[in-house]
Amino acid sequence: TRVLIANGPNLGRLGSREPEKYGSTAYAELVTLAREWGGKLALDVDVRQTDDESELVGWMHAAVDEGVQVVLNPAAFTHYSYALRDACAMVTAAGLLLVEVHLTNPHAREDFRHTSVISGVATGTIAGFGVDSYRLALSAIATRLG
Ligand code: DQA
Repeated sequence: TRVLIANGPNLGRLGSREPEKYGSTAYAELVTLAREWGGKLALDVDVRQTDDESELVGWMHAAVDEGVQVVLNPAAFTHYSYALRDACAMVTAAGLLLVEVHLTNPHAREDFRHTSVISGVATGTIAGFGVDSYRLALSAIATRLG
């Protein structure tokens, strides 16, 4: 089973970006960990990051076309990107899983983070467990498809 782990803006700075909030695991380490977790669950995991909204939208289109399950940390796009929401809606409407993940718990943070325009079209959301949110998301996918 193929799984795309797509990361939105600023997540490439993981490790040095506000580590008191986002943790000290570097983005490159997250890539390695996610591949290991995926391997143990018999998932073929592809981890990517972009700061570009249109690139993320294109990755959702490709997931639909290729039948790839998705773990998405939409980062700040979570809170306002209707374009990304509409692209995510196509993923779940195609019968594919789309798990929204966040390192932090956005509901425990600033008011503008309390709204996710993605959650309503996601299969489910996992937030607040640091990089372990990604492991939990992969586990949920393996369980659902198993
Ligand atoms: C985030 C939470 C968002 O509010 C923020 O804009 C991010 C990261 C998280 O993983 O906790 O960039 O998605």
